[in-house]
Amino acid sequence: MDKLVVEGGKRLKGNVVISGAKNSALPILAATLLTEKESVIENVPQLRDITTMIRILRNLGAKVTQQDDVVTVKPGRQIKHVAPYRYVSVMRASVCLLGPLLGRLKQAEVSMPGGCVIGLRPIDLHLKGFESFGAKIKIEHGNVQAEAKKLKGADIYLGGPFGSSVLATANVMMCATLAEGVTRIESAACEPEIVDLANFLNAMGAKVKGAGSHLIEIEGVQKLHGAHHRVIPDRIEAGTYMVASAITHGDIYLEDCIPEHNNALIDKLSEAGVSFKRLGERKLRVTGKKALRSVDVTTLAYPAFPTDLQAQMMALMTVTPGINVITEKIYPDRFMHISELNRMGSRIFLEGSTAVVTGVKRLSGAPVMASDLRASAALVLAGLVAEGCTEIHRVYHLDRGYERIEEKLISLGAKIWREKE
Ligand code: EPU
Repeated sequence: MDKLVVEGGKRLKGNVVISGAKNSALPILAATLLTEKESVIENVPQLRDITTMIRILRNLGAKVTQQDDVVTVKPGRQIKHVAPYRYVSVMRASVCLLGPLLGRLKQAEVSMPGGCVIGLRPIDLHLKGFESFGAKIKIEHGNVQAEAKKLKGADIYLGGPFGSSVLATANVMMCATLAEGVTRIESAACEPEIVDLANFLNAMGAKVKGAGSHLIEIEGVQKLHGAHHRVIPDRIEAGTYMVASAITHGDIYLEDCIPEHNNALIDKLSEAGVSFKRLGERKLRVTGKKALRSVDVTTLAYPAFPTDLQAQMMALMTVTPGINVITEKIYPDRFMHISELNRMGSRIFLEGSTAVVTGVKRLSGAPVMASDLRASAALVLAGLVAEGCTEIHRVYHLDRGYERIEEKLISLGAKIWREKE
């Protein structure tokens, strides 16, 4: 296993190119199974989760090639309908295979995703959606089995206790493209990744309208064909580099990012005193100031502040003078990073799903343990400003979601390296 070592104290400056969005690429790769024909997906980030998805597609019988950021998938006529536990257990997002497999083959069996360090992550909304199409669902031997003689479009309300669900919306939308008649998804997720997936489905010949709003309408078609698609930039990676600039009082130019996808973060960072300058459609300059002001943040579904940037924002708050408050409304238990940040000298107090962060003058480097992808990113950010060296263990979490992170940070002037444990 590898660990990352960060020596704090460098001001980050320069250009960083944002990679394709992991959370767009994963469902889009799953959606390629909706046809036997070949699809070509560009701007696919080279990440552990993507490698896992490619392995699953191959295991199901698809021919997949990967050349740099281009992935070509040709599922062919004969694909299997079972995605085994050994893959699903390492990546929850495998659940988004259910929709395309059920849509195309009228049967799907995917291992039920298990526990997750960021809290309970049920899939009841996904299953409710499939049942509305007339599918029979069974959970046996740890697997979700879905089967239908035929799928009929339906009106489906997908709101859950924490609002809309991204992958449930993706799953139901993918399945509906091949269901008979019209499906209306109410309380659909509005995330940019849903719009990206809908654009890909429409390029395949699907009839999806309204993606990006809470009401998505899909008119089922008999068959889909292959398509070419370019994945949108990763707004969470972009957001992480924005925080990197803020926390190091840096001056970073983000290239190939879509600033509107990060409006909630930009708004909060501006309130904290960070300045932003748009330089064309896909370029943004982010300049951190020495004197940061405290802010309060609540995570909610898009377009509000994303849960996937909560840990990174908390890292910034640890060195922002005054009292900062952060409330997590998507995953109330997503706070594994707090105890690790406190080992570095931060002052964070957790009450329910609200963390109160009192800014300190300095953090001090320490050995810390990464628990999940975004928590790991927060520890790297904290390490960038801590005195001395921070060792981040279990770095494989980071490799699931940040493409070439050390290389990108080094090019911005950070002192960071990987060591074998
Ligand atoms: N929920 C239910 N029932 C369901 C599904 C979800 O109650 O059937 C709840 C969840 O427990 C949570 C809320 O609904 O409280 C929202 O979860 P959602 O379903 O939107 O999460 P997801 O689709 O499984 C995606 C991202 C996550 C990101 C969340 C929220 C992918 C592959 N994953 O997960 O990304 O945190 O949306 O935005 O798209 C990450 O990249 O680090 C990551 C965890």
